[in-house]
Amino acid sequence: MIGRLRAAARKAAGAGLAAIAVGVGAGAAIADTPIDPDTERASIVRRFQQRFPGRPLDDYVLGAFMLNPAGRAHYDDIMAFAPFLPDIERGRVLWETPLKDGRTYADCLPDGGRNLAGRLPRYDEAEARVVTFEMLLNRCRREAGEAEYRHDDRATMGLLTAWARTLSDGMRMDVRVDTPGARAKWDAGRALFHRRIGQMNFACVQCHVDNAGRTMRMEIISPVVGQATHFPLWRSGETLYTPHMRFTRCMEQVRAQPFPAGSEAFNNLEYYHATLSNGLPLQANVYRR
Ligand code: HEC
Repeated sequence: MIGRLRAAARKAAGAGLAAIAVGVGAGAAIADTPIDPDTERASIVRRFQQRFPGRPLDDYVLGAFMLNPAGRAHYDDIMAFAPFLPDIERGRVLWETPLKDGRTYADCLPDGGRNLAGRLPRYDEAEARVVTFEMLLNRCRREAGEAEYRHDDRATMGLLTAWARTLSDGMRMDVRVDTPGARAKWDAGRALFHRRIGQMNFACVQCHVDNAGRTMRMEIISPVVGQATHFPLWRSGETLYTPHMRFTRCMEQVRAQPFPAGSEAFNNLEYYHATLSNGLPLQANVYRR
């Protein structure tokens, strides 16, 4: 019985994906053609502007709510009295509590951590790897002699970023890819974004570029442009998602084995993903379905 239900569920899920696959463009095929970050962003933005004419680019931070007036009204209602405000306050306590060496995160980070999140991830030449916001927070902990937080722990790392990212609210995303080393990691992130994965054999680009605006299992798929601006997000207004937790969810959705939160694969993916939101304003902690 359970087996039959599962099979039915699989079939339904498959049908949903088949329906949206109708709109699949050349996305997966272009993955191997080299392209520079500015051209990539401009060409994806142009595709969206043709599909959603007259939309100011700043509206893209709303994600799927941009394309759904009723959902947008619901979003505005929830954001007016956001149920996760007490959680953000708990994050503020974590942020303000001095570390073992007596310093705070604000002492440890440039400009007290202000207007920082929108410049991350960035490529660190000395370490020859992509550094995320979470990694900088853990670096502060390490230097102070504290244990690092797990990247998939909502109660510590999640809440800490929920407060710390508010210090960058309003800044415009400015993620740079300046050197050959940086470019190699961006290319790796781009390749993953375009790679078909999982039992469903779907790539990120197929949903969040080719099929953005279409409905899948009663959810409107958001355009990738703007997606990097509003983390962490709160699904149902109560469950926190960092970027890597959301990537994990999408990989599970296509029945792929997700990479671990904080892994190099996800760092590179986040790096590529963030550049597509360059120029858009940050707002930490938003409601999502
Ligand atoms: C089968 C389609 C599908 C695939 C493939 C997919 N996603 Fe998603 N994704 C969704 C849906 C549906 C949602 C929830 C609705 C929305 O906000 O787009 C979502 C949400 C997201 C969000 C949150 C957007 C927001 O504003 O809240 C991000 C970020 C994201 N996906 C990134 C990715 C990445 C990166 C990949 C590749 C690893 C990926 N997705 C693959 C369907 C997909």
